[in-house]
Amino acid sequence: MPTDAAAKGVKLERYASGGALLLRRVASGKFVAASSHLLFRATVLATLALVFLFAFHYPSLLSRSFSLVSADASSSSATSSRLHASHRSLLMSSSASATYGGEKWDKEIRRSAKPRRDGGISVLVTGAAGFVGAHCSLALRARGDGVLGLDNFNSYYDPALKRARQRLLSDRGVVVLDADINDALLLEKLFDLVPFTHVLHLAAQAGVRYAMEAPHTYVASNVAGLVTVFETAAKHADPQPAIVWASSSSVYGLNKETPFSEDHRTDRPASLYAATKKAGEAIAHSYNHIYGLSITGLRFFTVYGPWGRPDMAYFSFARSIVAGEPITLYADARRDFTYIDDVVKGCVGALDTAARSTGSARSGKKTGPAPLRVYNLGNTSPVPVTRMVAILEKLLGKKANKRVIAMPSNGDVPFTHANVSHAAHDFGYRPTTSLDAGLRHFVDWFVEYYKLDTKIVKAAQAAADKKKPATKKKAAAGKSASS
Ligand SMILES: NC(=O)c1ccc[n+]([C@@H]2O[C@H](COP(=O)([O-])OP(=O)(O)OC[C@H]3O[C@@H](n4cnc5c(N)ncnc54)[C@H](O)[C@@H]3O)[C@@H](O)[C@H]2O)c1
Ligand SMILES: *[C@@H]1O[C@H](CO)[C@@H](O)[C@H](O)[C@H]1NC(C)=O
Repeated sequence: MPTDAAAKGVKLERYASGGALLLRRVASGKFVAASSHLLFRATVLATLALVFLFAFHYPSLLSRSFSLVSADASSSSATSSRLHASHRSLLMSSSASATYGGEKWDKEIRRSAKPRRDGGISVLVTGAAGFVGAHCSLALRARGDGVLGLDNFNSYYDPALKRARQRLLSDRGVVVLDADINDALLLEKLFDLVPFTHVLHLAAQAGVRYAMEAPHTYVASNVAGLVTVFETAAKHADPQPAIVWASSSSVYGLNKETPFSEDHRTDRPASLYAATKKAGEAIAHSYNHIYGLSITGLRFFTVYGPWGRPDMAYFSFARSIVAGEPITLYADARRDFTYIDDVVKGCVGALDTAARSTGSARSGKKTGPAPLRVYNLGNTSPVPVTRMVAILEKLLGKKANKRVIAMPSNGDVPFTHANVSHAAHDFGYRPTTSLDAGLRHFVDWFVEYYKLDTKIVKAAQAAADKKKPATKKKAAAGKSASS
């Protein structure tokens, strides 16, 4: 759901950049040359007054501090003001004088990022309060790696869910900072504090349709934010970390060849979201080429599971089915639904096989140029969306009130299907979870998280089990630690 806060954030950003423009014009050399000395002084005074007024109106421009947010710190108004703060820091990050946490803050961050096993890696996870970020952080933490998360907790979807994921991580000793990836000063500070071996960059504005409402948030997070992460990793971190980041299957756009392979055309995006991910892949190429950053792009295919995203179809359909509200399906749409635990294994595999950054693509060092990699992470078996709904109906013990329409041209593509042979070859990626098994894990979590009446659901699942032949049960067995 689009939110007021997000919309206001964008408005504020426009307002603020207008102000910056004005100040720049007032101070420009031409203007000064044309005016008398007195006029110049008056102008300076007026400028100062303007700056003062602006800063007074938005006091957090002057003093910024980053809190290690404790579990209960989430009223929705606090969240929306944080969202605004993040948009401001996008504009002011190079000029504001920042005050960061202090000794205790530094210590907490070092502790979170410190590996607890021999040979463990130390990973900065952006978007760590997000769906994939939270699962990956837990998995890395569980095997003894150091993890520091950051997330701006924006209200594109219910921030309470992001806070709940943050609590889950905090219970396992993983800190998730309230911060925006466009805050270069903060990133520099983090790279000063911790010699991160890897960055798992998952923070982004996700969602295909929301791009028609809030196009600039996509550019701010997926293009500008990506550049800020690459820029600080390339120029400030020592040693440079290896970077693994989330691209998307949406880059295949209007591609008709199937299954989608990494070398297929990706120059026909069907949405602005897809276009920003495609731009990200081009930007990755340039940072690898110039600065020798080791960069791996992962094209995720419709990831689903426990702690998932309420804006995605399987999740919002489940809510509507429970609430007895109608759902709208696109006829003939098929998706290569990929279970979260499989995607987590892919992310971890990509991290573990990422070569070191070299500092320069043509460094001539023995290590050679840093690698630039891109992999599909899908399930390799597309399923009609109508079938996904049928599974949900079965698991929830309730019929959906369906309205089936032709797919409008709002950015969605009719079909996705991954060829994952490169990921299989390079890091043993093998998706093992069927949609039936994965959705059951999702529904179990969903029912518990929203404290729904479990009796109906349990009865429906028992009935489904009775009907199921024994041989088909294989994938239901392994509910992983990360869910
Ligand atoms: N889930 C999928 O099906 C899917 C498919 C393809 C690609 N992806 C990509 O995978 C990544 C993770 O997706 P997800 O499903 O976990 O989404 P998500 O929205 O749950 O997670 C992204 C997180 O990043 C945070 N964030 C957004 N902008 C930020 C900024 N400027 N600074 C700091 N934090 C910011 C959000 O608050 C959110 O918690 C994203 O890059 C997404 O585009 C996801
Ligand atoms: C998948 O990709 C690999 C590597 O590019 C290719 O050899 C193989 O033929 C592809 N498989 C299909 C079914 O297209």
